[in-house]
This record gives sequence, C-alpha cells and structure tokens, in this order.
Amino acid sequence: MLKGKHIILGITGGIAAYKSVSLLRLFIKAGAEVQVVITPSGKEFITPVTLSALSGKPVVSEFFTANSGEWHSHVDLGLWADAMVIAPATASSIAKMANGVADNMLITTYLSAKAPVFIAPAMDLDMMAHPSTKRNIELLKSYGNHIIEPAEGELASHLIGKGRMEEPEGIFEYLKNFFASSQDLSGKKVLITAGPTYEKIDPVRFIGNYSSGKMGYAIAEEAARRGAEVTIVSGPVSISTNSPNINVIKVESARDMHKECLKIFPQCEYAIMSAAVADYAPVECAENKIKREKDEIPVIKLTKNPDIAASLGEIKTPKQKLIGFALETNNEEVNAVEKLKRKNLDMIVLNSLQDKGAGFGTDTNKITIFDCEGNKTTYPLKSKNEVAKDIIEYIIK
Ligand code: PMT
Repeated sequence: MLKGKHIILGITGGIAAYKSVSLLRLFIKAGAEVQVVITPSGKEFITPVTLSALSGKPVVSEFFTANSGEWHSHVDLGLWADAMVIAPATASSIAKMANGVADNMLITTYLSAKAPVFIAPAMDLDMMAHPSTKRNIELLKSYGNHIIEPAEGELASHLIGKGRMEEPEGIFEYLKNFFASSQDLSGKKVLITAGPTYEKIDPVRFIGNYSSGKMGYAIAEEAARRGAEVTIVSGPVSISTNSPNINVIKVESARDMHKECLKIFPQCEYAIMSAAVADYAPVECAENKIKREKDEIPVIKLTKNPDIAASLGEIKTPKQKLIGFALETNNEEVNAVEKLKRKNLDMIVLNSLQDKGAGFGTDTNKITIFDCEGNKTTYPLKSKNEVAKDIIEYIIK
C-alpha cells in the first residue's frame, strides 16, 4: 500500500523521537520515499546523520543550508507529499500547528501540505490532559488532520498515564489502512447536493437559509479522496474545492438543482442529498425591486418546490444508493425515519439544531444514521471532515 508513496516524516523534540527511526525503517522497507523534516529541538534527541542514512535523503531542518545558502522550499515539499506524518508531536508543536505559528521548517511544511496529515502526540500525562492541549488537538481534528491517539503506559517521567506515542508498528498500520481504504470508491460516480437554495422574490431579495455547504463539500472531498468521480450540485456558497476528482455545478434555486440532479443521477452509483433545499418558492419573481409602499404590505404567494430526494427515490434502480439528510428541531427520530421511507432513501443522516455544534454553518456536526433495514447508529460531535468519513464508511459497509 505504501510502495512509491511520498511521505514527509516530521520529528519534533520529544524523547519518543528515538522511535521515529523504527518508523522510518518500516516506511522505507514498504517501498515508500521518505523525506525527514526535523525541528531544531528534535535534533537534540536524534541525529540527522542516522535519519539521512536510513532515508537516503538529506534531512531538512532549517529554511536554508547555512554554508551554501540553498533554500529549502516548504511549498514544494508540501506538494510532493502523499502523506505527512508527525511523530512524535510534542505539545508545543501541536500548539504551533493548531495556531499557525510558522517559526520552523516543520511547521511551515505542515501549513503548506496538501496531503493528509497524521499526528502522533507524545508528552507527559498532565500536558496531554491540559485543556489547552485538548483544545489544540480538537482544532487539528477540525482541520481534517488524523490524530493517532497516544497509548496509556509508563512515560519518560516514570508516571503512568496517557501520553506514550503510539508504537511505530501501530502508526505504520494506521497509514497502511488509510491508503488501503483510500481507493475503495475508485470507478464510482457520486452525486452530492450541497449548500442552500435561493428562491428569488425580486432582483435583490430571496428566500434562503443558513447552509454554508461545509457538510456537503466535506463529503465530496472524502468521496473524491477515496477515488470517486464526484459531482456537487451546489447552491450559492462561498467555499470551493481544488480536487481534480470533483466537478462543481453551481445553481441557485431548488428547481435548477432538481433539473441538474435528474440529468446526473442516472450515471451515478450514489447520491447524497446534503443540500438545504427550500421547500417553497415565490410563485413569481418581480421584474423590478419591490418598492416600500406607504400603507400596503406586500404578500408573497408561495408554491411548492419539487422534492429532489423524493424524485430520485422514484427513479432509483437496485444498483443505486440514495442517501438523504434530515435537519430537525423537534421530534427528530420520528421525522427522520418518516423521511427515509417517504423519499425511498437507503439511509438518512439526522442532525438536530437542538445539539450544540450541529447543523448549519459550524465546522462540527453530530449525526445519527438510520438505514432502510431499521438500524440506528449514533455518533458523537466531530469535525465535519470526520463526519464525512463516518458517512462514507457507513455507505461502503
Ligand atoms: O451546509 P452546512 O452549513 O454545513 O450545514 C449542513 C446541513 C445542516 C445543511 C446538512 O447537514 C443537512 O442537514 N442538510 C439537509 C437539510 C434539509 O433540508 O433537511 P430536510 O429535513 O428539510 O430535508 C430532507 C432531505 O430531503 C434532505 O436530504 C434534503 O436535501 C432533501 N430535500 C428537501 C427538500 C426538497 N425540496 N428537496 C430535497 O431534496
């Protein structure tokens, strides 16, 4: 799985740095190309000579080589990598990564990395348990970074608790599994709706909602990362994607979204309806801006929009899977299961505005999945990137 992969191995200044040598050897044995980037304090724990001898490449630590003035481009390194692994990651480096404190080559490389990042924390138990470390780790998770949780055990301080860096074999397995699962949607076509719809009242006003598109775009990124060819039919949002596997079709109204989805769905294996589609639209859009009249209050007559998910449910073939969302404020489970059945969905992802950090606009979400076989799976609050991973994994399973 790792043969030919370009891996940046980031080493920071902790006692567990000695284990990075074993990790490096495992990567090299598996056929990966490894570039070691080490922080100045990392060099206090392990010598660059050992690391460059094993990796077959000069170790990068400073922004430039002092005697020749040769510049080391963190941007090029960030583009070169298929994965960046930071092991061990100290509390200080974790804080810098979480907050963008770019004061060494490792952190600038991290900030430039386009590839998935894996972070293996290693520190004393009290540092690990400190609210600031916990908050920084949560921030890193919310950026989509993978945290390889430290184990419990005896620490360098001889105290016993959580903070021991995961063993090199464990980190290696984590990466192997990541790349193994990474192409499981290869050759599949996935349609995703995302964002809000705008239903025009006049040239300057519309009926809309608070959807940012973050949930739908996160699902699209995860599906694309796993090899799918993804089309997002997106309402008006301010986010974008660079993934070459994602095609974005921008629409404004529910009717336009409906039209595009009907065109694309027949070629797809999966459709995931995460858009917050307006159920109603004004019967007509005024040609000119509606003026404020002295006494008269305008009445906007509404008409029902097409139900996109239900339309796809009607034409779905046995080879296709249709996944809906339910955004609820009350009676959540009953409403979600009712939508699952009424729209002929294979599964529905419930998120409730009663849950703090869930739903519109946030970087996090808290979901419960119901499937058409009657199963219910509840997840804790997670970053939308992690939620996207859970959803895709559920669909594949
Ligand atoms: O975009 P974010 O800010 O990240 O927020 C994410 C989200 C809250 C928008 C997302 O997680 C979510 O819940 N999306 C569905 C919102 C919604 O409209 O739910 P609903 O319960 O009203 O609709 C049920 C399902 O039918 C949804 O899959 C919806 O896309 C679909 N639908 C609804 C109405 C309609 N006319 N056509 C549809 O296809």
